[in-house]
Amino acid sequence: IPVDDFDLVIFGATGDLARRKILPGLYRRFCSGQMPETARIIGAARSEHDDAEFRDVVRAAINEFSKKNDCDDDRIGEFCERIHYVTIDARGEGGWSDLKGLVRSGVVNAYYFSVAPSLFGDLAERLQSHGIADENARIVVEKPFGRDLASAKKLNADLAKHFEETQIYRIDHYLGKETVQNLMAVRFGNILFEPLWNSQYVDHIQITVAETVGVGGRGEYYDKSGAMRDMVQNHLMQLLCLIAMEPPSRFEPDSVRDEKLKVIRALEPVDHHNIVRGQYDATKTEASYREDAGDPKSRTESYIALRCLISNWRWAGTPFYLRTGKKLKARTSEIAVVFKDAPHSIFPEDAGRHANVLVIRLQPNEGMTLQVTIKEPGPGGMRLIDVPLDMSFAEALGEEAEDIPDAYERLIMDVIRGNQTLFMRGDEVEAAWAWTDPLIHGWEARHDVPKTYDAYSSGPEDSSMMLHREGRRWRELK
Ligand code: BG6
Repeated sequence: IPVDDFDLVIFGATGDLARRKILPGLYRRFCSGQMPETARIIGAARSEHDDAEFRDVVRAAINEFSKKNDCDDDRIGEFCERIHYVTIDARGEGGWSDLKGLVRSGVVNAYYFSVAPSLFGDLAERLQSHGIADENARIVVEKPFGRDLASAKKLNADLAKHFEETQIYRIDHYLGKETVQNLMAVRFGNILFEPLWNSQYVDHIQITVAETVGVGGRGEYYDKSGAMRDMVQNHLMQLLCLIAMEPPSRFEPDSVRDEKLKVIRALEPVDHHNIVRGQYDATKTEASYREDAGDPKSRTESYIALRCLISNWRWAGTPFYLRTGKKLKARTSEIAVVFKDAPHSIFPEDAGRHANVLVIRLQPNEGMTLQVTIKEPGPGGMRLIDVPLDMSFAEALGEEAEDIPDAYERLIMDVIRGNQTLFMRGDEVEAAWAWTDPLIHGWEARHDVPKTYDAYSSGPEDSSMMLHREGRRWRELK
């Protein structure tokens, strides 16, 4: 279903995110027929280009970052006809009247700030002072949304001077991932799981976002941030919220976001015994984290694991273990809900006991698996084994799975539709920083040095110990 006609202005249009994700994503939506024929994309950046030069940038980005079978020269050519460019000075006056002349009225106007957060306030101010953005315009802002509570508050205040909260779309691309939304469908579309979704039946929950890449070319940015700011404060906390929240009364922006906010506010502070930070070591051929970061004494973590508790009626006492890191053994993102053992076993001692586990796989091989216990087939007596009840999107949907939009594609279309459900509200972001700030200040004050872990391993040994202490173990990374 095509969305309404729109003009989307991308500030930072020649930057990495625009080339890797935003432009190829829009191209895919164009090919799928979701982007109306008359919709336009206006690139805006400091560098001097005309439309033709910028179209070359877009063509190259699509060829480099789209799947090969998506790249049809004719289609790319048609897509490029919808592309324009304006040279703009975010902090000065140059280019703004050109932009005003380009943006059409009477269609959806969206402004994507794919630039450093230090420019958010300037862009917002100029869009207003030049009379470009009206009360129906939408602005899209990227992470990092601040680096602590104070800076996030400042960004929110700067944007609020010029735009209403209903006009601000704070992107967390994890919320655009197909399985993440499916998580809500599974929880709230089935009667099966929700009665068991609490501390009485759930032993613990593991949220893992493991990457095999290092920080390579972005060492300088990353070293000021670390895994906590780069991944936990946003992506992992959003996953935690969706897993733990109460059923919203409707699938509508504020109903969902109110419930997520309650989870963040119910998070207990984490003491330092329940935080493990690590840095990857060098291999024979690859640099260590500290070398990648360009600081031989860096104390920034490329891995973090945390044991979190949510102080509310539903989850009291149930640990949520979160881990994320770079240069780990496998690229795996998943949420595992590990249920408690059956209260009483009627089977012989040696039959074995297994807990049910519901695994929601975000990537790769998106899908869900429920591990259930059955009798081992054959004449060997009553022995119990685990088998997966598997729902892989690729199998269930066949070719349609190929068309599942990438997170950015979906989220940009939601902006055009005016649906904020999958975007973070200002108070959510602030609450997330309010929880993370004291943890970060804690390890900074202790001069904590992250543990070294072997590149392409499962992370620091202490992380496994954190779970062993409680008779639990991380799921294997594979
Ligand atoms: C980004 C982080 O937000 O998410 C990166 O800044 C990380 O460090 C990336 O690699 C992971 O996203 P995805 O979609 O590849 O899991």
